[in-house]
Amino acid sequence: MTNLTINGQSVEVPDGTMVLRAAEKLGIVIPTLCDHPDLTPYGGCRLCLVEVKGARGMMASCALPVTEGMQVTTESPALYQSRREILEFLLYAYHDRGYVNGQKGETQFEHWLHHFGLDPAKDQSPTTRFNPGSDPNPVVWVDLDKCILCNRCVRACEEVQGRFVWGLTKRGFDAEISPGANTDMLTARCESCGACVAYCPTGALDNKPSVGAGKPDRLVTTTCSYCGVGCQFDLNIKDDKIIRVTSNPAAPVNGMHLCVKGRYGYDYVHHADRLLKPRVRAYLLDGTAPKPAHAGKGWDWVETDWDTALDITARKLDSIRAQHGADSIGVLTSAKCTNEENYLMNKLARQVIGTNNIDHCARL
Ligand code: SF4
Ligand code: SF4
Ligand code: FES
Repeated sequence: MTNLTINGQSVEVPDGTMVLRAAEKLGIVIPTLCDHPDLTPYGGCRLCLVEVKGARGMMASCALPVTEGMQVTTESPALYQSRREILEFLLYAYHDRGYVNGQKGETQFEHWLHHFGLDPAKDQSPTTRFNPGSDPNPVVWVDLDKCILCNRCVRACEEVQGRFVWGLTKRGFDAEISPGANTDMLTARCESCGACVAYCPTGALDNKPSVGAGKPDRLVTTTCSYCGVGCQFDLNIKDDKIIRVTSNPAAPVNGMHLCVKGRYGYDYVHHADRLLKPRVRAYLLDGTAPKPAHAGKGWDWVETDWDTALDITARKLDSIRAQHGADSIGVLTSAKCTNEENYLMNKLARQVIGTNNIDHCARL
């Protein structure tokens, strides 16, 4: 363990911890942009500068390992001035057209701009350099005029998703992020998981289906209904409709990570064809008109209530078991159910119906 002081407060952290993380342990907030706790330290934006007693110049705390007896200062007039100048410099090559703007609250970049008294609408570059939405990826929106070259998308794709799609090309003021060797994202083997979007601190990468949908009026944290992993995320709701899905960093199973289905496959929720009530064949209700041999798709379905539908199901299962035995029945459950629901189906199959014919799709 290493002992140090930050702003005069003592803290003990494991050897090799970065100063930024040690400060977090004390509840001290240091401005950051290129850093993210899930990603390898990069030390690129210099916003997290701190002063260390006895060291020359300011140092990037996100990439500075602690040393025994270190004395760190995170706030001073000189640090404030340096951070403000860094943000002004980033704004020099930043242009927000304002038409995406679909995130609840500010982006991380906007937050620090406002904190240091800068107004992105007034202080940003008046000129644009790139075409927005130029990448044909079906779910990721790219607007490089909002990119500050923090490299988080590059590291997220590499370290979280393992796809190595993004890279940094060109040099100096012309530097830009680019998929593969200046190709498009899908050609560079993008899986459309949206991890690069989730980690982007400016909205330069955004969710294409949400572009133009406006800002959500509330967030609802929920569990994904697609598979058995049980990832959590935040549904962004506007006028009772889901307009985007965002990562919830506190999600215990998946953290910031989601697959393409969880992040983008939510249009079924509001689909006009979605069944919202149980349906049964009309003849099962009145018992008079058995299904004709030539009956086609959609024949004779009527909506009913859950009690009626479950009564019919129970009666049918009972009569099949009485006539043909318990093993004439098989039960298929679903990864879309919770573990608890699947446990109950297991009990229903084995102990109520009396068969071991039960299976489950653990994935889609
Ligand atoms: S969507 Fe996923 S796979 Fe595609 S570039 Fe972004 S992080 Fe990589
Ligand atoms: S696209 Fe976003 S995450 Fe990637 S380098 Fe630019 S600002 Fe950073
Ligand atoms: S957050 Fe430390 S250099 Fe960017």
